[in-house]
Amino acid sequence: MSILDPLHPRFVHFPVALLATGSVIALIYLLGWRRAALPVVAWAMLFLGWLGIFPTILSGLIDRNRASGDPAVVAALNPHIAAGFGLLIVYGWLLYERLRSPAVLDQSRRRVLLIGLLLAGLVLLLVAGWSGGKLVYELGVGVRR
Ligand code: HEM
Repeated sequence: MSILDPLHPRFVHFPVALLATGSVIALIYLLGWRRAALPVVAWAMLFLGWLGIFPTILSGLIDRNRASGDPAVVAALNPHIAAGFGLLIVYGWLLYERLRSPAVLDQSRRRVLLIGLLLAGLVLLLVAGWSGGKLVYELGVGVRR
């Protein structure tokens, strides 16, 4: 085990914190607290959080190769990996909406779609965090014994 092993826990906190906070700020704006600064802050956090998913997935795949093939580990890894790629798609879609139309948070016809995507993103973050915690604290993946 080297000093960089496991690698993944060094990256996971950035997308989790940025995407969760950015999503809540965007939802607060969409639900009616219309302060001009909120979309600027929310999109900055969502963009940085989305960028942070890439090294998180890459380091996760590296650590996954070092993990055991125990069925309980595989059972926790499957939803974990699905949630990870789901996050890439859901937040990528949100950022694409922002790219197409910078004021998309103010468009009432896009409101339901955006709220749905933001809630789906939060659920995926919960699944990724929950299953990640199970891998480490219950199954001991990446833990020195
Ligand atoms: C999709 C590819 C991914 C794979 C293959 C993967 C794999 C793993 C593995 C093997 C662990 C156990 C610890 C270790 O050995 O590093 C873990 C933990 C964890 N993962 Fe992932 N992961 C992926 C994506 C993600 C994403 C996108 C997130 C969040 C944005 C995430 C969040 C976490 C968290 C919070 C833990 C627990 C870390 C701790 O408490 O120390 N993972 N993951």
